[in-house]
Amino acid sequence: MKKDLIDILDLSTDEINSLIATAEDIIANPDSYATKCERKKLATLFYEPSTRTRLSFESAMYELGGHVIGFSDATNSSVSKGESVADTARTVECFADIIAMRHPKEGAPYVASINCGIPVINAGDGGHNHPTQTLTDLLTIHREMGAFEGLTVGCCGDLKFGRTVHSLISAMSRYEGVRFVLISPEELRIPEHVRTEILDKKGIEYVEVRSLEDAMPQLDILYMTRVQRERFFNEADYIRLKDSYILTPEKLASAKEKMRVLHPLPRVNEISVAVDADPRAAYFRQVHNGKYIRMALILKLLGIE
Ligand code: NCD
Repeated sequence: MKKDLIDILDLSTDEINSLIATAEDIIANPDSYATKCERKKLATLFYEPSTRTRLSFESAMYELGGHVIGFSDATNSSVSKGESVADTARTVECFADIIAMRHPKEGAPYVASINCGIPVINAGDGGHNHPTQTLTDLLTIHREMGAFEGLTVGCCGDLKFGRTVHSLISAMSRYEGVRFVLISPEELRIPEHVRTEILDKKGIEYVEVRSLEDAMPQLDILYMTRVQRERFFNEADYIRLKDSYILTPEKLASAKEKMRVLHPLPRVNEISVAVDADPRAAYFRQVHNGKYIRMALILKLLGIE
């Protein structure tokens, strides 16, 4: 049976550990992976803007010796003629071995996955989930901190629409002793379903707070996010909330020496560029890790050892 990645919980913790181990091995021995995907094709179907996710998928496939087809602007495809996601998926399966899809509608990659016979990877669906960003985040946390257990993870910014945060909380909730500090304005609080279905159900310790400065000293990970302008219903609300949190070197002064700042990127203004030089700023190392974990994921879903 084919395997898709729609939600991060589609992978067991053992499978995640093994993806991390493969990614580490790729980093150490890139040459031994250079022809693993010879004659295989990845289709990147991106109905929403992307830089890192699409390019890291594409460079991952090239580094495995495979090929890439697809679109980065759905208005240039038959989508603009009114084709459904299901029909597009059925079509693409005739040409490719695996699909990575980003879509503004929650659930679209799932619809693709049940309508075609090749693996589908959710590369971000609306304000819902972004499991491959989470794999990237997990590899980064593993490389920077050595383990997941017992970490205090601060998620800051747009916790309502930020799909990366939803998937990260799902994934990190499976590790012993992890607690969350959820830092957001009232209007951008974590959705009810994440609270009840994940945090409360699993009895995970968490607090919801407004002040980044007050939270800072206790954090092991600070996961900053962009206010998701494209998901707001009106511009006035975006303008009122967009500057809620701006991380500066002054605010970092009270953070632990070993704390790490992650951000899925793109950044707008929520991390001042002056923070980039701080060794705790891990967000560009995180981008790099995204390619390796996607290489590991492509191998796994294609069933290549
Ligand atoms: C994120 C996304 O698309 O959800 N970006 C990414 O994939 N690295 C975060 C964002 O757009 O703010």
